[in-house]
Amino acid sequence: MLVLGIESSCDETAAAIVRDGTEILSSVISSQIELHKPYGGVMPELASREHLNKIEPIVKEALEIANVSLKDIDAIAVTQGPGLVGSLLVGVSFAKALAFGIGKPLIGVNHIEGHVYSVVFENPAIEYPALALIVSGGHTNLFHIPEEGKYKVVARTRDDAAGEAFDKVSKMLNLGYPGGPVIERLATEGNPLKIKFPIAKISDGRPDFSFSGLKTAVSRYVRENNMQPILQDESPSQEIKDLCASFQHTVIRSLLRSIEKLAEELDPKTLIVAGGVACNGALREAAETVGKNLNIPTCFPSKHLSTDNAAMIAAAGTFHLKRGEIAGLSMTADVKMRLQNIEVEDAELKRKKVRYRL
Ligand code: KG4
Ligand code: ZN
Repeated sequence: MLVLGIESSCDETAAAIVRDGTEILSSVISSQIELHKPYGGVMPELASREHLNKIEPIVKEALEIANVSLKDIDAIAVTQGPGLVGSLLVGVSFAKALAFGIGKPLIGVNHIEGHVYSVVFENPAIEYPALALIVSGGHTNLFHIPEEGKYKVVARTRDDAAGEAFDKVSKMLNLGYPGGPVIERLATEGNPLKIKFPIAKISDGRPDFSFSGLKTAVSRYVRENNMQPILQDESPSQEIKDLCASFQHTVIRSLLRSIEKLAEELDPKTLIVAGGVACNGALREAAETVGKNLNIPTCFPSKHLSTDNAAMIAAAGTFHLKRGEIAGLSMTADVKMRLQNIEVEDAELKRKKVRYRL
């Protein structure tokens, strides 16, 4: 079974050909990092225009590398949401037109589910129940997956995503974009215990995350200690390296604290850590230790598959294709698409009008 995956939810235009849901024949990614760098974040209008320029050549390249033609493809899987509307629409419209043109089924994939499937390529088959931390620039959620295809959010960020916090702290000190890789590099030369940043407490006692408070604590520390953003070509000071290490350490502690708490309750057989922030070596090491303590395997995607890519979309699409979950051509982008599909409404949360991001 050959599935063409297409991803354009944020700032990567990607296409991939995946055989039987686990074998990557090609995975082509065109990153827009350079385009957005001057702004220190993704500019939605620029992103969608760039997707328009790139989508056709990227899909062609994926087919060429895999050495397959459109008639060999069994289905097209495309990211339907969540994401930036203009960006999503480019991929969805392209995929719909292509599916119609070649008469092949179309599958709308949830981007977050794609990240869950990013671990299927280089790990043994996932055993369920699983606990999956999906941590990127747009999302920070912990999912309980009792069986394949069933998802319940058991912890989520109440405000910023973890990757967003990395990007914002980096911007504060003019360290570069995206912030995650820069902060990780500087953190290796810093002391993670130098500054004690607080881990946010959630008023209703849920094991949720909050990174906006941490960002404010870093900003306050920078101000109170009269730290200045670095100038171009200036090497970061030891003080900045210590701040990066301490900030990263706090993010990781916060993420792992919830994993440990929920693992005790849910008794998973696998721990999955995926999404752009899963590139972080210190997070990987710490998560691996948690997995070892729980006596379960910890599955990560390789770095190439941690950030946005289309192979993970094709893999998730293959699962839905096998179940006959095909989208009609009236399918459209869904910027707020949710993944939770069991115990969907939590009455208590609804009553309290607690706001959170899925
Ligand atoms: O998954 P992704 O490519 O896009 C989203 O779906 O958001 O993740 C990008 C995010 C950025 O916020 C970036 O700073 C973060 O992942 N990131 C990292 C690292 N590499 C990328 N965060 C921490 N450490 C890293 N090494
Ligand atoms: Zn993503």
